[in-house]
Amino acid sequence: MSLINDRLLRALRRQPVDRTPIWIMRQAGRYLSEYRRTRARAGSFLALCQNPELACEVTLQPLQRFNLDAAIIFSDILTIPDAMGLGLRFTDGEGPSFERPVRGRRDIDRLGVPDPESDLGYVGEAIRITVDALGDRVPLIGFSGSPWTLAAYMVEGKSGTDFRTVKGMAFEQPADMHRLLEILTDSVAACLMAQRDAGASALMLFDTWGGILSRHHFLEFSLGYMERIVARLNRADDPAAVPIILFTKGGGSWLEAMAATGCQALGLDWTEDLGHARQRVGERVALQGNMDPAILEASPRRIREEVEVLLERYGKGTGHVFNLGHGITPGVDPAHVAALVEAVHELSPVFHR
Ligand code: CP3
Repeated sequence: MSLINDRLLRALRRQPVDRTPIWIMRQAGRYLSEYRRTRARAGSFLALCQNPELACEVTLQPLQRFNLDAAIIFSDILTIPDAMGLGLRFTDGEGPSFERPVRGRRDIDRLGVPDPESDLGYVGEAIRITVDALGDRVPLIGFSGSPWTLAAYMVEGKSGTDFRTVKGMAFEQPADMHRLLEILTDSVAACLMAQRDAGASALMLFDTWGGILSRHHFLEFSLGYMERIVARLNRADDPAAVPIILFTKGGGSWLEAMAATGCQALGLDWTEDLGHARQRVGERVALQGNMDPAILEASPRRIREEVEVLLERYGKGTGHVFNLGHGITPGVDPAHVAALVEAVHELSPVFHR
């Protein structure tokens, strides 16, 4: 099926576009009252992820409000460790935690690679009905956490820690950590492949915690595994291959190494300068980002000024996907999101002439 709006896919492949495409990380979420109502109907965040009809409903909600160039399937990176039997829980105000965190070799040896159909079938089903509901309007993005980021949650057991436990395992028991990362690499690759087969037309790897590592540990524990996933999904002769976006939060100093993995695009957090990043990666990859999410708390006039600055920093030509540098925060006024989307629509065409 050919899409009416394929700006995202064209920009990811660095083909010409009429204006810069935009979507927003966490675009379906708590800042939307209709999301909060659907989540209440589902009973909990996790129940919402696991109900394909309701997951489809919230995936489409931001597109009904704003003229976005992509949908991202409503799910969570922690569904994989949950399917591995760790017992995922979300507590209001505290974020995710696991009943049975991974603490050593014995825990790792008990882990299996989840089957995308029997263990995570609700994700594939949500994608199928969402692609169906979207018709040929905009592409749907599938996603997963990076092996390192999933390992960080699985070993720490909860969010908001100082990462001493997961770093301790990486530095003191590197063979155990590599075993865990191998199992996660197989799991993530299988899940992304299933998402692609279900109809996702771009894939994103969220490496939220790659940036806590030193350069050589990032290469060893995070990037090497992401590279293997990209290689499995993006075989040159695979007609089903779709663009892959790598996003390491805090990964600004390693963009060249990330661009060399064979991925099509890099997500940037807001600390990186778009123009400088573009110079560094050249023609190798597209760039996605990277407005500070806190700008959305400012006035629509300030938001518009900031959009102009970022478009100018990237400069003329294709290869830029407008986004925030991290997920949208729950307190944002949806009118400010409308102002952001409108500003990208109005101000970006001159950069493509
Ligand atoms: O972007 C989208 O609209 C798609 C949905 C999506 C969610 N999580 C829904 C969600 C995506 C792409 C994610 C990715 C994700 N999940 C990441 C990587 C991106 C990042 O933020 O760095 C991470 C680290 C997680 C794990 C996770 N899920 C945490 C730490 C939390 C709690 C923090 C918070 O924002 O409350 C979640 C919960 C979560 N995932 C929510 C949503 C909409 C909020 C849950 C709620 O409705 O109460």
